Amino acid sequence: MTAQNSRQPVSEPTRAFAPGRVNLIGEHTDYNDGFVLPFALGLGCTATVVLAGEGWSATSAQQDDEVATTTCAPSDVPGWATYVLGPLWLLADRGVDVPPLRIHVDSNVPLGAGLSSSAALVCSVITALDEALSLGLSADESLALSRAVENDVVGAPTGGMDQLVSLRAVEGHALFCDMRSLETSPVPFDLEAAGLALLVIDTRAPHRHVDGEYAERRAGCEEAARVLGVPALRDVTADDVEAAVEGLDDDRLQRYVRHVVTENDRVLATVDLLSEGDVAGIGPLLTASHAPTRDDFAISVPEVDAAVEALLEAGALGARMTGGGFGGCVIGLLPTAGVEPAVDIVTRRFRDGGWQEPTGFLVTPGPGAHVVPA
Ligand code: GLA
Repeated sequence: MTAQNSRQPVSEPTRAFAPGRVNLIGEHTDYNDGFVLPFALGLGCTATVVLAGEGWSATSAQQDDEVATTTCAPSDVPGWATYVLGPLWLLADRGVDVPPLRIHVDSNVPLGAGLSSSAALVCSVITALDEALSLGLSADESLALSRAVENDVVGAPTGGMDQLVSLRAVEGHALFCDMRSLETSPVPFDLEAAGLALLVIDTRAPHRHVDGEYAERRAGCEEAARVLGVPALRDVTADDVEAAVEGLDDDRLQRYVRHVVTENDRVLATVDLLSEGDVAGIGPLLTASHAPTRDDFAISVPEVDAAVEALLEAGALGARMTGGGFGGCVIGLLPTAGVEPAVDIVTRRFRDGGWQEPTGFLVTPGPGAHVVPA
């Protein structure tokens, strides 16, 4: 990013879209320098940037308040606006001459469902700003900026997968991401050709202690890597995992290591199968991923486990929680004809459990962030 950008004044609105995501497999591996395999949703956020008279302001189609700011004061604005204005603060802080702007965002990613509504917000704003101000951001710079908004401005210690896939997703493909090198490669994921569908169940379970618990898992993994003398848990292989676990006294850290190391292996196996066009073959890996997120990493909740069980009973080839955990969404890989009966079975299970009715929708891999006509 150049400090003295040759920005053009914005006279016409500039608009960009960035998607939310589903993580097919690879949970809590990103901040361990590991592997993930998310894909972009068709749902996402559209950000529109226009030149304004003075200051910077943000509005959202989903919020009542308009937020205006001229300073880098994250604590002064509501959470949603921090994601919208955060990129401006960081750019200005880095010496970019950011003119007075109005930014409007409109998102259809369900909030708080673990589908990365926040990455969609940030990445749509950054993509629109890059275009509107001719910033000439490289792919790496856009990624670093979006991660800095979440980690440094908002202060959430997340691992970067969400922003990476929101920016770089490729339609019709899942995105294999090496979270150490930040290299990505699209992996074909043609559900229709396989006669299959991917059903997302939003359990609508209230998120419980998400921020503190997420940070605790991350700190636990970093502590385990330190004790084992490796840069990150990525450096423990599946063959070494039992020996590594024996080197840890703390049962909690042992469980974290088991999950992360075996999950990295499952991601690689899933990539191999999809690369061979074997979509149905990934089902058992998805299901195998759920058990350690529940038992070892302890990030599931009863509604999520019930949805996974109900999907499997309904004939899903595989099912698992997706995202950070502690509530949120479950995915099930189903024969297309099995989708409606599966939704009925899950809904009945939730009624029996006395829980809020879940919502279900089908997803296919969409494109990453891009400029759209205003
Ligand atoms: C959240 C974080 C990601 C990742 C997932 C868990 O979505 O934002 O960085 O850690 O949880 O896989």
